[in-house]
Amino acid sequence: MKKIVILGSTGSIGTNTLDIVTKFSAQFQVVGLTAGTNGDKLEEQLRQFKPAVVALSDELAAVKLRARCGKFPVEILSGVDGVAQVAQLPEADLVISAIVGGAGLVPTLAAIRAGKNVALANKEPMVMAGPLMQEEARKRGVRIFPVDSEHSAIFQSLEGHRREDVRRLILTASGGPLWDLSKEQMQDVKSEQALKHPNWKMGAKITIDSATLMNKGLEVVEARWLFDIPSRQIDVLIHRESIVHSLVEYRDGSVIAQLGLPDMRTPISYALQYPERMPLELPSLDLADIGKLTFQRPDHERFPCLSFGYEALRIGGTMPATMNAANEVAVAAYLQEGIRFSDIAEVIQTTMETHTARDVRTLEDALEADRWAREKAGSLVHALAR
Ligand SMILES: NC(=O)c1ccc[n+]([C@@H]2O[C@H](COP(=O)([O-])OP(=O)(O)OC[C@H]3O[C@@H](n4cnc5c(N)ncnc54)[C@H](OP(=O)(O)O)[C@@H]3O)[C@@H](O)[C@H]2O)c1
Repeated sequence: MKKIVILGSTGSIGTNTLDIVTKFSAQFQVVGLTAGTNGDKLEEQLRQFKPAVVALSDELAAVKLRARCGKFPVEILSGVDGVAQVAQLPEADLVISAIVGGAGLVPTLAAIRAGKNVALANKEPMVMAGPLMQEEARKRGVRIFPVDSEHSAIFQSLEGHRREDVRRLILTASGGPLWDLSKEQMQDVKSEQALKHPNWKMGAKITIDSATLMNKGLEVVEARWLFDIPSRQIDVLIHRESIVHSLVEYRDGSVIAQLGLPDMRTPISYALQYPERMPLELPSLDLADIGKLTFQRPDHERFPCLSFGYEALRIGGTMPATMNAANEVAVAAYLQEGIRFSDIAEVIQTTMETHTARDVRTLEDALEADRWAREKAGSLVHALAR
């Protein structure tokens, strides 16, 4: 039985993971769960899955949860340290990293440093500190299994092949809910429209990232470090149907792809039980029914955020962490209706232009850049606030 910890268990990836655990209860034991503020949902989960330890990063939410679960045999930790402690539970075999945003860096790195294999959905830590995470993983013989559907597809398409034969990785992007709008139409798009992703049901932050294509910019950086491949060998292709999840081109001209219906349980289950494929009993992919698959080049003019990912990698050091933090601040402000949709890219760009990149040698280097960029982006948001 595999003992698992889920960081971010109350979110979209977290609940999809628990859905798999429920169906295959003989294969998994949940030993730790964490969330941010949602004590109600965490309480439901701890009563159902009975982990030994849970944590809420929000102290007040943890106090309330302790008051409600006094008699239940569970230890309730709190704060960033509490979440990081759950990430390092000695009995855990695998940590599912599914917190949203840079908040996942400290606990995910703690899990790696504790020698835990990681199923990585939380892409932002890899963007902020990819080389550091990979170095720590290498030192401890830790495996990082991608959960992001694109990176899982690449991981699967690389299997059984020699790395030196790879010509390029091709990440597919659905184009998000605003792909058909002009630049002018996009400027003032309301969050209800931007949150309507055509193919995937995900948390709010990643759905807005998909609408700006910042998600793909983040994924380019994630792929660079996950697969140790230079950014010039990473391309992006718009594929509206989200059936081809990504592709690898080899030097003999062969292109190998992974296809499937858009359902995160497929990549999550692959990361949970690699190399086994779990009998999820999802509907079959009926290509005749779908009829045709379409592909287009990305439009960097209308979606500048995609270029930011490449630019951050070109500059290197703390620039990707800076880009990520500015994006988080801008997206949060947009969701609270503080700034316009088109301001998101502007806040990120100005923050990056103002930043002088330094090397990321330690966790503190990445966190310091994160703090600096949040402050800078916060002041830009304030100036733009309506
Ligand atoms: N959703 C997808 O299909 C998908 C696909 C590919 C990759 N990903 C990546 O997976 C990650 C999670 O995405 P999601 O869509 O599942 O997000 P989500 O639905 O917003 O869930 C986020 C989870 O993180 C927790 N959290 C938020 N802030 C926290 C903090 N400061 N400290 C500790 N925990 C915190 C939340 O707890 P509360 O509920 O208490 O707020 C929740 O459990 C993201 O990095 C995303 O890019 C997601």
